[in-house]
Amino acid sequence: APQGSLAGRRILVTSGPTHEPIDPVRYIANRSSGAQGTALARALRDQGAEVVFITGPADIRPPEGVEVVAVQSALEMEAAVQAALPVDAGVFAAAVADWRVASASDRKLKKSKDGLPVLEFAENPDILKTVSRMAQGRPPLVVGFAAETNDVVENATAKRLRKGCDWIVANDVSPATGIMGGDENAVILISDQGAEEWPRMGKAEVATRLAARIATTLNSKS
Ligand code: C5P
Repeated sequence: APQGSLAGRRILVTSGPTHEPIDPVRYIANRSSGAQGTALARALRDQGAEVVFITGPADIRPPEGVEVVAVQSALEMEAAVQAALPVDAGVFAAAVADWRVASASDRKLKKSKDGLPVLEFAENPDILKTVSRMAQGRPPLVVGFAAETNDVVENATAKRLRKGCDWIVANDVSPATGIMGGDENAVILISDQGAEEWPRMGKAEVATRLAARIATTLNSKS
């Protein structure tokens, strides 16, 4: 049986970008590398958790020893999250697209002398918010992420309340920080206890510290 401070705990992690289809060969995406989500899944596994790793298309290899659910779109990610429940904790590190193309074409769009295609958008479900606000079966600990470029604490504190999650892991992704796509992160952990600023450290170390904090919190509840 697994050893560690998270032995016997089932934890889901979302990670990576989502791809929102335009037609069978084209999509809209974002620049998320999946690095922090992957590091977190690895750290949670190392503490003995049973990890369900729900990942959008990313170049980075998922850790060994976790259950990998590969998805493309936000709608697929939401379905995979629902299917993974119940869990002891949900960690939502994915950069989910806010919008999808309202009616993706089932045929490749063609150039036409009749003009350019016009894409209409529909809003994607907010997976973190939906899970945070579940009336029944809400995970005992729900952790969201916030990438901010300014007023990090104010924005992330407001986001925590809006989403209804327990913690927000906030970071400053201004280009000057080199955090987006880099190996390091500087996070502020927002909880009902307020804002806790962590020193700048490697993404793997952020993951280890977060996993330890998750273990302490779950183990103090029961
Ligand atoms: O609102 P914003 O996108 O900044 O919130 C970021 C947090 O919400 C992240 O934890 C992200 O994984 C989650 N999220 C989600 N579903 C969405 C949008 C964001 O789970 N559609």
